[in-house]
Amino acid sequence: MHMEDRFNKIHAEDIPDNVFKLIGKDWMLITAGNKDEYNMMTASWGTAGVLWKKPVIFTFVRPQRYTYEFMEQNARFSVSFFEEKHREILNICGTTSGRDLNKMNIDGLTPMVTPADTVSFREARLVLECRKIYFDDIDPAFFQVFDLETIYPTRDYHRFYVGEIVGAWQKK
Ligand SMILES: Cc1cc2nc3c(=O)[nH]c(=O)nc-3n(C[C@H](O)[C@H](O)[C@H](O)COP(=O)(O)O)c2cc1C
Repeated sequence: MHMEDRFNKIHAEDIPDNVFKLIGKDWMLITAGNKDEYNMMTASWGTAGVLWKKPVIFTFVRPQRYTYEFMEQNARFSVSFFEEKHREILNICGTTSGRDLNKMNIDGLTPMVTPADTVSFREARLVLECRKIYFDDIDPAFFQVFDLETIYPTRDYHRFYVGEIVGAWQKK
């Protein structure tokens, strides 16, 4: 399938969604790897905007996630958003680890390799192809006001990845 058949390429600044709702309520599927071996997880913490003159998205991945290994091993990743009817898939990808279930076989998700060589899914309504341009780990020493025990009782501080949005695709 050519991605152009199903999606329109748009500029990141023309993404019509409210980013608070898009990430926080709709949730995103972060996918890294290649067509033969990839993994994805649901995420609802992150942000999108502009940094270093580039459109970017920040994703936060705890180190114990299987997806973390794929984020580390690959220069690119995708972030995909879905219509409400696909919520159950996001629930599965957000509660099951690829270490226990091969997520490449989940019903209702058809993988597609995007022009920028990321893996996303035909069923998505919005796909952001991302190039990893920076990462860092949350450092507990730098919190100013925060209840660390609530969010990080096991000290599994997120690694955040700044992805340059090299392609944004909206379902036709
Ligand atoms: C709504 C929702 C949001 C989530 N957001 C994040 C997140 O931003 N970062 C993160 O590390 N895990 C997040 N998770 C948890 C992972 O999706 C979950 O641990 C998943 O099973 C990891 O899969 P993996 O081990 O195959 O990578 C979220 C889960 C749900 C249900």
